[in-house]
Amino acid sequence: MKDADFYPIIFRRKSIRTYDPTPLDEDILGNIKDQITSLKPLYNDIEVDFKIISQSDVNSRMMKKAPHYIAAFSEAKEKHTEEGYKTNIGFILQQMDLFFSANGLGSCWQGIPKPRKKVLESSDLEFIILMAFGNPKETLHRNNILEFKRKPLQKICKISDSGVDEILEAARLAPSAINSQPWFFTRNNHVINVHSFKPNIIRAIIMKKYIPIDMGIALYHLKVGAEHFGKTVEIVFDENAKNNTPNGYNYVISLKMD
Ligand SMILES: Cc1cc2nc3c(=O)[nH]c(=O)nc-3n(C[C@H](O)[C@H](O)[C@H](O)COP(=O)(O)O)c2cc1C
Repeated sequence: MKDADFYPIIFRRKSIRTYDPTPLDEDILGNIKDQITSLKPLYNDIEVDFKIISQSDVNSRMMKKAPHYIAAFSEAKEKHTEEGYKTNIGFILQQMDLFFSANGLGSCWQGIPKPRKKVLESSDLEFIILMAFGNPKETLHRNNILEFKRKPLQKICKISDSGVDEILEAARLAPSAINSQPWFFTRNNHVINVHSFKPNIIRAIIMKKYIPIDMGIALYHLKVGAEHFGKTVEIVFDENAKNNTPNGYNYVISLKMD
């Protein structure tokens, strides 16, 4: 199983919701467990745990089931933003979403289903979210960028320059809960600042808990994009960018490219 450059897979991936219910072979699950241990966090000082659980460990009510799920747990630690630990989980687990897609397996972030009590009680950390995975029973990849339902680049950034557009394109195509695409990007020379929109009260009821996760996902895609184009990336918190966040947005973090 490979985890080379994920940039091309960003242009093909999609959420998979129909699975072959047959569990994956033990050796494949072994590879997946190895991959999980090699994931790179956004923040090194937040304790996280990822458990592979099966269909019977998940309360999914009306949702279609997958043979396996990754259950993500985290220390509930404030980091730059109040819910920075959720952004960390988005950043880490999106590496698995792309890994699955690059290796012929389907996956889908699952905000609604919850693990059963025994799984929740098996960790001292806070349960954050599930990711379903398994052999797909639908087409695994998109063949055309038009198959992505996404906002145009002009709606999600204040930058336009051919050098950076191809990097931002990776973030534009990122998955998000209810496809809300809550991100907005500004730029200061070789730094891309990442912001999230402030939902109105009604939308906040549904979206608030997912926005920090979505932001971690988009940030990971941005990093993949920058590295694909040969940049060395550093993720930094920039007080100045925070103070210059556009109206209606919250500052999240910045990506410095050299
Ligand atoms: C944090 C998060 C939670 C999600 N929760 C669900 C879910 O509970 N059920 C579901 O079918 N899809 C869920 N999704 C998948 C999104 O609906 C999907 O990513 C989005 O519509 C874009 O489609 P795509 O991933 O196929 O590009 C979730 C995605 C994210 C990032």
